Amino acid sequence: MQLIRIAGLFSLVALAAGQDTSLRAVTAAFSAANISASLGITFNPKALLEVSFPQAHGKPVTLHAGIHLPINATAGPPSFEIRGAVGRGPFVVAMVDPDAPTPEDPSLAQVRHFLAGDFHLRGDCLFNTTAAVSDFIQPAPPAGSSAHRYVLLLYKQSPAFAHQQLVNASTSVLGFNISQFASAVGLGEPVAGTFMLVAPDSS
Ligand SMILES: *[C@@H]1O[C@H](CO)[C@@H](O)[C@H](O)[C@H]1NC(C)=O
Ligand SMILES: *[C@@H]1O[C@H](CO)[C@@H](O)[C@H](O)[C@H]1NC(C)=O
Ligand SMILES: *[C@@H]1O[C@H](CO)[C@@H](O)[C@H](O)[C@H]1NC(C)=O
Ligand SMILES: *[C@@H]1O[C@H](CO)[C@@H](O)[C@H](O)[C@H]1NC(C)=O
Ligand SMILES: *[C@@H]1O[C@H](CO)[C@@H](O)[C@H](O)[C@H]1NC(C)=O
Repeated sequence: MQLIRIAGLFSLVALAAGQDTSLRAVTAAFSAANISASLGITFNPKALLEVSFPQAHGKPVTLHAGIHLPINATAGPPSFEIRGAVGRGPFVVAMVDPDAPTPEDPSLAQVRHFLAGDFHLRGDCLFNTTAAVSDFIQPAPPAGSSAHRYVLLLYKQSPAFAHQQLVNASTSVLGFNISQFASAVGLGEPVAGTFMLVAPDSS
C-alpha cells in the first residue's frame, strides 16, 4: 500500500516535471532509448520541440524526452512549440511508433501517428496552415506489450513535401518508414524532437 502510494507520488512528480530544457539531455535520452538506430535517423537537434497534450482535467502535460504517460493522458491532439533558433518554418511534424505491435517484435512498425506540414512559428508556437497528411492517432499499445516509444520529430519542410504522393489520408499507417520518407521528400534529418513511453493499461 505504502509502495503503491509512493509510486503514485512519483508518477505525479514525473507528470508535473515539465518540458525538455537541454539539447544534451534530449540527445542523451534518444541515445539511451536507441531511437536513432530504430528509426534510421541521425538525431542532432538544433532546438527543443515542446509537445503538450491537453488533459480532461487540469493543465496540459508537456513532454520531456522519455516521459512515461498513461494512455488516457495522450488523447491529444498535441500542440507544439519550439525553444531555440531553427528559422520560422515551414516545418513538418511527424510522430511514429517503432515498437508495434511490441518492442520485441516490431513487425507492424513503424506506425505513423501523425504527419503534417505547413507549420509556421508565431512567437514560440507552431501553427499549421493546411490539414495534416496523416491525422493524429492516439497511442494504443496492445495488452501484454511493454511500453512503446512514441517519437515526435520536427523537420524543416522541403519544397517537395507539398507535392509528395507517397502518403495520404487513406495510406495504411502501418509499415511506415520515417527516414525513407524524409529522404524521398528531401526533408533531411530532424532539427528537433522528443519522445514519450506509453504502456498498455494494467488491469
Ligand atoms: C538498437 O536498434 C537497432 C535497430 O532496431 C538494433 O539492431 C539494436 O540491436 C538495438 N540496440 C539495442 C542496444 O537495443
Ligand atoms: C486517467 O485515468 C486515471 C485513473 O483512472 C485518472 O486518475 C486520471 O484522471 C485520468 N486522466 C485523464 C486525463 O483522463
Ligand atoms: C491543422 O491541422 C489540424 C489537424 O490535422 C486540422 O484539423 C486543421 O484543420 C489544420 N488547420 C488548417 C488551417 O488547415
Ligand atoms: C493515396 O496513396 C496511396 C498510396 O499509399 C495511393 O495508392 C492512392 O492512389 C492515393 N490516393 C489519392 C487520393 O491520392
Ligand atoms: C527504412 O528505410 C531505410 C532507408 O531506405 C532503410 O535503411 C531501413 O532499413 C528501413 N527501416 C525499416 C525498419 O524498414
